[in-house]
Amino acid sequence: MGAQPVDDAGWHVAWSPAEGARRARDVFARAFGGDPAGDPVVGVWSAPGRVNLIGEHTDYNAGLCLPTALPHRTYVALRPRTDDVVRLASAQADGLWEADLADVGADGGAAGGVSGWGAYLAGVAWALREAGHAVGGFDAAVDSCVPFGASLSSSAALESAVAVALDDVHGLGLGGSVAGRSRLVEASVRAENDVAGAATGGLDQSASLLCRAGEALLLDFRAGLPPEEHAVPLPWDLASAGLALLAVDTRAPHRLVDGQYAARRASCERAAALLGRDSLRDVGPVALDDALAALAPHDPDGVLRRRVRHVVTETARTADVAELVRAGAYEQVGPLMTASHVSLRDDFEVTVPELDLAVDASVAAGALGARMTGGGFGGSTLALVRDVDVDAVVAHVRAAFADAGLAAPAFLLAPPSAPAGRTD
Ligand code: GLA
Repeated sequence: MGAQPVDDAGWHVAWSPAEGARRARDVFARAFGGDPAGDPVVGVWSAPGRVNLIGEHTDYNAGLCLPTALPHRTYVALRPRTDDVVRLASAQADGLWEADLADVGADGGAAGGVSGWGAYLAGVAWALREAGHAVGGFDAAVDSCVPFGASLSSSAALESAVAVALDDVHGLGLGGSVAGRSRLVEASVRAENDVAGAATGGLDQSASLLCRAGEALLLDFRAGLPPEEHAVPLPWDLASAGLALLAVDTRAPHRLVDGQYAARRASCERAAALLGRDSLRDVGPVALDDALAALAPHDPDGVLRRRVRHVVTETARTADVAELVRAGAYEQVGPLMTASHVSLRDDFEVTVPELDLAVDASVAAGALGARMTGGGFGGSTLALVRDVDVDAVVAHVRAAFADAGLAAPAFLLAPPSAPAGRTD
């Protein structure tokens, strides 16, 4: 079973596309036979993990997010079958995962349906079928350098890679346009929500399928928007400004993540219902104080009001960051990132001490701003850092973790990279 690559200096390695394809073909040949170097009926597709610059826990509140795609990708070598069987092998898991598409259903892994990591891939095929596309079974082999359990969307990378693969091999014609890719996002979200049983929003799948190299993507999750208003590319050329985005994978174990995520989502929905709104997006910053006052009688411990304050201020911060990014004022993004972290720590209460430590140590060592990224309860932080300060920030974070008696964190740089697509 292949571990994920971290080099001697503690950096998460990103494979070149050629290396990723070679690895996926190797896993395929070992599991299913054939020639790893060039079996013509086996193709390789890949999809990136993501970082979210700002806009956290806003996607399921019809709010704004601002992700970029990582250079770290999941590679899937795939051969379509003439029946409905799905057989999967992975460099990161022992044995073969096997199911019949007829047994895949919207049961979140319960009631005899499929479960385990294969549910994310077979679920995409199921969801495409549910949407009316003619999709059959397949043999597929996976290898990935997207860090697992690091809040960098390794599951969305799996779903998105298989989504573009099935689109290609069945000639669905979806991968060539933003509108078509949005259908692939929907299928990937259904796989995760309905088949794998994780009630996440659409941030991760949208990022993996819609982000583009050299750009950030402003996502607006209000219902019913046309694709070009849902996903607006913004230039994100940090390198030209002498800046970099540094991710710190704290390697903190995820604690109660599923239950806590669902609880946050339920609180937001309850607050919106109490306010008579479809979503918390409908409570703009101007109406925030009135909304908080209206919630007070229903909220003796103040929890709902803290959750609402985070969601409303976070979408406002994301809109402000988008304006700064449009203007190329990248350095000014830093303080808004740190404000986002404070809100996630104090109001939304999804950070853990390792995330807070990584943020504090990054800022103390000269980062322009830092925040957790993804769902929280463990995972990674992002720091906006001048190129010349990267080494100092890494050293300071590493020392802070050692002083606190914590396991060494791992690092990666996050230049805006390419979306899901065919690799080989
Ligand atoms: C996880 C979920 C996303 C989003 C983030 C928080 O990554 O998968 O849908 O809710 O948490 O912003």
